[in-house]
Amino acid sequence: MTPILPGLILLLLSAAGSAVVGRDIPGNAIRLPSEASRFFRSGEDDESLGTRWAVLIAGSNGYWNYRHQSDVCHAYQLLRTGGIKEENIIVFMYDDIAFDEENPRPGVIINSPDGDDVYKGVPKDYTGENVTVNNFFAVILGNKTALTGGSGKVVDSGPNDHIFIYYTDHGGPGVLGMPTLPYLYANDLIDVLKKKHASGTYKSLVFYLEACESGSIFEGLLPEGLNIYATTAANAEESSWGTYCPGEYPSPPPEYETCLGDLYSVAWMEDSDIHNLQTETLHQQYELVKDRTANGNFAYGSHVMQYGDVGLSEDNLSLYMGTNPANDNYTFVDKNSLRPLSKAVNQRDADLVHFWDKYLKAPEGSVRKAEAQKQFVGAMSHRMHIDHSMKLIGKLLFGIERGPEVLQTVRPAGQPLVDDWDCLKKMVRTFETHCGSLSQYGMKHMRSLANICNARIQVEQLNEASAQACTVFPSGPWSSLHRGFAA
Ligand SMILES: *[C@@H]1O[C@H](CO)[C@@H](O)[C@H](O)[C@H]1NC(C)=O
Ligand SMILES: *[C@@H]1O[C@H](CO)[C@@H](O)[C@H](O)[C@H]1NC(C)=O
Ligand SMILES: *[C@@H]1O[C@H](CO)[C@@H](O)[C@H](O)[C@H]1NC(C)=O
Ligand SMILES: *[C@@H]1O[C@H](CO)[C@@H](O)[C@H](O)[C@H]1NC(C)=O
Repeated sequence: MTPILPGLILLLLSAAGSAVVGRDIPGNAIRLPSEASRFFRSGEDDESLGTRWAVLIAGSNGYWNYRHQSDVCHAYQLLRTGGIKEENIIVFMYDDIAFDEENPRPGVIINSPDGDDVYKGVPKDYTGENVTVNNFFAVILGNKTALTGGSGKVVDSGPNDHIFIYYTDHGGPGVLGMPTLPYLYANDLIDVLKKKHASGTYKSLVFYLEACESGSIFEGLLPEGLNIYATTAANAEESSWGTYCPGEYPSPPPEYETCLGDLYSVAWMEDSDIHNLQTETLHQQYELVKDRTANGNFAYGSHVMQYGDVGLSEDNLSLYMGTNPANDNYTFVDKNSLRPLSKAVNQRDADLVHFWDKYLKAPEGSVRKAEAQKQFVGAMSHRMHIDHSMKLIGKLLFGIERGPEVLQTVRPAGQPLVDDWDCLKKMVRTFETHCGSLSQYGMKHMRSLANICNARIQVEQLNEASAQACTVFPSGPWSSLHRGFAA
């Protein structure tokens, strides 16, 4: 059996770190909302003042992605403690974590090293195969006839209501993951939000989004005037980060071989957990989360961004999350989270960290050790295959010199990733037809496929180049025949 060198993973992590490109954060000037009179006390639900709704969604499955479902469970508990009614919270999670054989505490999910169980009582509205883009959109739009499976709970909101949407998972330029393919594409989400606005069924909507390149979901796409305020864990061109990971500080209890949370997600939730949210504004939370997620110098952190109607961030958090009465006396204190900087793991490498930790801890010569090695090597080889194929395709399409440059071009801030989203989707299917599933890791190549569209390459040309580049079709879980196409 070939031992895997620890150097390999170090090399990998540092390569990922160096890909993080810094960018100035646009001015965060706050415009005061024009209709200040619409603000009201929001401790208790007053019928005439609207209902608070929440949609919580984890887009992944698999034990190595423990943290996304754990984040969503934590968010659910937070909202319930804040007084939001269960009937107004819609939860999407694959629900394969709590009873996974790898879970050291069966039936329990934690979101921080010494945290309590956050799984208990979480409703199973949309689980397993029912966690889909189609159901997510139908729930936001309150369209029950568009649902396939699930509990049937939707955001049945009215004009005075407030909606909070929280999504956490892997992503890539212009896309967010889903456990059942296809993925969610930014333009489709923006269309749904515009439709929701046009239906006049909310007063304001807040969207918190954790994923790699999450800024690309709103950058140049979310207009002002929809009464939507969004913040994202990362800008349009950098990864977001897992936290409470094995081997990092602070680390999970030793029996956990997986990250427990995500940096941006844990930052907003641990802030909301302890404060009086009637007196803390969205903006105050944004500033604090931005600080904590930057994690010192961005080497192990990302740029938290805000989009849409930034003026809404003058609202109190309780308007969206309620507030825990026990925190009435804990008002917001700037820099309250005087915690040491944490080590974090790039979202895209968290699966490798899991396989690696499992490998290290498994007894010498055990079936478990062999299995962990196989998983690690399998994931690594597919990464190399996808990276290599994409690079080659770039060279075939644009020449040896220009290829890499065209694929890596990042459009200036304020511009969307791609002009023709249907083209992007066709390119994704074409690539996957020849080269296999992009998979979670391969989402990072969405920008390359988008740039191929922006360069007005025709689908037939990519078809030909992919056929040349990918002579061997990946099998098993890496085949696009296994789970379907990402678009
Ligand atoms: C928001 O906070 C301010 C300042 O503490 C307070 O006066 C106001 O009543 C709060 N509004 C809501 C809607 O809770
Ligand atoms: C709800 O979804 C169904 C099925 O997709 C669609 O035909 C209908 O137009 C939708 N209703 C509204 C109000 O958008
Ligand atoms: C999906 O929803 C249907 C209808 O509610 C349900 O019967 C089925 O069990 C759900 N599937 C999963 C995996 O939860
Ligand atoms: C907050 O402080 C006030 C005044 O000291 C006290 O009466 C009240 O019980 C406290 N509330 C909570 C929830 O601790």
